[in-house]
Parts: sequence; structure tokens; C-alpha cells
Amino acid sequence: MIVLGIETTCDETAAAVVERGGDGPGTILSNVVLSQIGDHAPFGGVVPEIAARAHVEALDRIVAAAIAESGRSFAEIDGVAAAAGPGLIGGVIVGLTTAKAIALVNGKPLMAINHLEAHALTARLTAGTPFPYCLFLASGGHTQIVAVRGVGDYTLLGTTVDDAIGEAFDKTAKLLGLGYPGGPLVEREAMRGNATRFALPRPMHGRTEPDFSLSGLKTALRLEAEKVAPLADGDVADLCASFQQAVVEVIHDRLRAGMKVFRARYGTPTALVAAGGVAANEAIRKVLNRVAFESGIKLVVPPHALCTDNGAMIAWAGAERLAQGLTDPLDFAPRARWPLEEIASAGDRPGLAFQPGA
Ligand code: KG4
Ligand code: ZN
Repeated sequence: MIVLGIETTCDETAAAVVERGGDGPGTILSNVVLSQIGDHAPFGGVVPEIAARAHVEALDRIVAAAIAESGRSFAEIDGVAAAAGPGLIGGVIVGLTTAKAIALVNGKPLMAINHLEAHALTARLTAGTPFPYCLFLASGGHTQIVAVRGVGDYTLLGTTVDDAIGEAFDKTAKLLGLGYPGGPLVEREAMRGNATRFALPRPMHGRTEPDFSLSGLKTALRLEAEKVAPLADGDVADLCASFQQAVVEVIHDRLRAGMKVFRARYGTPTALVAAGGVAANEAIRKVLNRVAFESGIKLVVPPHALCTDNGAMIAWAGAERLAQGLTDPLDFAPRARWPLEEIASAGDRPGLAFQPGA
């Protein structure tokens, strides 16, 4: 089964062609990603209007490149998938409308994919991870612990009550004048800093519900920075190191709580799976390894390019859904907000599904 996938929910314009043979990992035939980071960097964050325009300008040639690199023609693909949300609505409209047009013209089924579901299923593309597994999704917009028990079967075990972890890294970088996106810059500074110099809180520590809170940590960091201002190089490094260490300990504690809830409800997961840009952080990877080790399960972290936003994960989610007969009508509406738990599974198959050749 070969699927074209399109991703335009944030600041990456991406398209890919992926093949799913059966259970077990898939094959990425092409994976083209155009980052808009340069367009947004002067503003210190993603500007929705700029993002939507950039997607319009780039998507045609990104799709053409993905098809060309895959060595397959439109006629040879089995379906077209696009991220239909959640995300910045202007961009989502661009990607979903493009996918609908390609599907209609070529007589292929459409799969309207939830962006979070695509992150959740990436471990099956890269490692063929069997259900059920525990997903830790940490990106600029999301921080979630999810029980993944089947295609379309996702239960949110915990989430952040305020900022996402990536967002906290980005805000820290902004506060310290490091630039955007902040995660990699804070990590680099942290490597040469003293993580014990500033006493920062570990919000939610010890709670049984596996939720996160990052905004108190951010405020505490700002207060510490103000105390030592003007900041010398060493201060910035120490602040970054202390911040990152706090985040690492928060993740350790919150994931342990998440594992407990998972086990109590569903038994032992096959793996702890990481997704989202934050998983690129070495210190965070280490603590994920530790949680998995303590739980006696393996850790699956997809390669960095597949942890951050990309078209392959959308194509793969499309292939997984197509394999279950889960397709979507051509009037499927884009969604700015779309919680994982509201995704249709094979158990509640939509009656309007577009039939290939119909
Ligand atoms: O998944 P992603 O590429 O985009 C979405 O938000 O969907 O994640 C981007 C986020 C940004 O907030 C970025 O600062 C964070 O991931 N990030 C990192 C690192 N690399 C990226 N955070 C911490 N350490 C990193 N090395
Ligand atoms: Zn994402």
C-alpha cells in the first residue's frame, strides 16, 4: 500500500511517499521537508499568516518533488493523506485542499489525518512497534502521555495544564536572548552550565495524575535571571543548565506516574515511544531511557527527522488507516482544534467514507 502524505499544520511544508507492506516497519520512498524557520525567526515565533502564505507558495513543488523522488506516479499510489488538524488553520486548509484535489483528480481515497495521531504512529513506521504502547509526545505545541492501543484507539493519560515543554524551552531562549527555535540553543548552553546553581521548582512532583505544568518553572527562571542581571555568558549557561535539569526531573517523575496509570489500566506496554521535536534533546533522551529501563520495557525514539514535523508520518498514518478501510469524504473540514481522543477508529467507521473508484 503506497500513500502520499502532506503536512502543513505549522511551519514545515512537507510531502512524502511511504509504503506499508503489512505489520512491521514501513518504507519511506521519499520525504521532502521545507522549513520556514527563516521566515519566522525575525518574529521570535511562528506567524500564522506568513506560514499560510509560505505553504501556498511551496506546496505544489514539494509534492512534485516527493512524487518524483519516490519513483512512483500518481497512478501508482493507493491513497492521499493530509494533516487536517490540529494546527494553524490557514496552513491546514492549504494542505488538505491540495490533498483533496489530488485525490479527486486521480480517483484515489482521501485520508484526513490528525497530526497528533501521525506523531503517535511514527514508531510503527520506523520500528514496527506493536500495540499497546505508551507515547510521550513533546513538541512546541503539545505535551502528552498517551496510551496507544490500536489505530484510532488513543487515550490521553496526562497533558500539560499550561505551556508545552518545547514552548517552555522557546520562552527560556527568548528570555535569555538566545534566538528561535529555542530548544537546541538552550541545550547547547546547558552543556557548559552548572545545573545546580539555581534552585528551580519541579512542578506537579509526586502527583498521581500524570499531568505537567511548566509555567511556574518559567516564572521562577525569569525571577532568578532578574536577580543576577545583567547576565554574563556564564549566567546564561547556568540558567539554561538549571532549567533543563528541572525539565528532565519533571519528565522523569511525570512519566513514572504515567507508566503506573498505564499498567493499572492496560497492563505492561510494549514500549515507551517518544515523539515531537523535544525528543531531540540528549538529556531528555537519557531520562526517557531511564524511565523505560526502570519499567523493564524498551524505548523507541524515531530518528530526529521523523520526530519533528514531516510528511512521512502523515503518509504512514494514512496507510495505517487505509489498511483498516478508514477513509474520509472529500468534504472533510479542516480543524484548528482536534483532540486525539475524538479520532474515529474502525469501531465507529464513518458512513460517508469515499470508496476507491466510486
Ligand atoms: O515537533 P516539533 O518540530 O514542532 C511542533 O511543535 O509540532 O517541535 C518543535 C519544538 C520547539 O519548541 C523546539 O524548541 C523543541 O521542539 N526542540 C527542543 C530541541 N529541539 C527542538 N527542545 C529541547 N531540546 C532540543 N534539542
Ligand atoms: Zn508536530
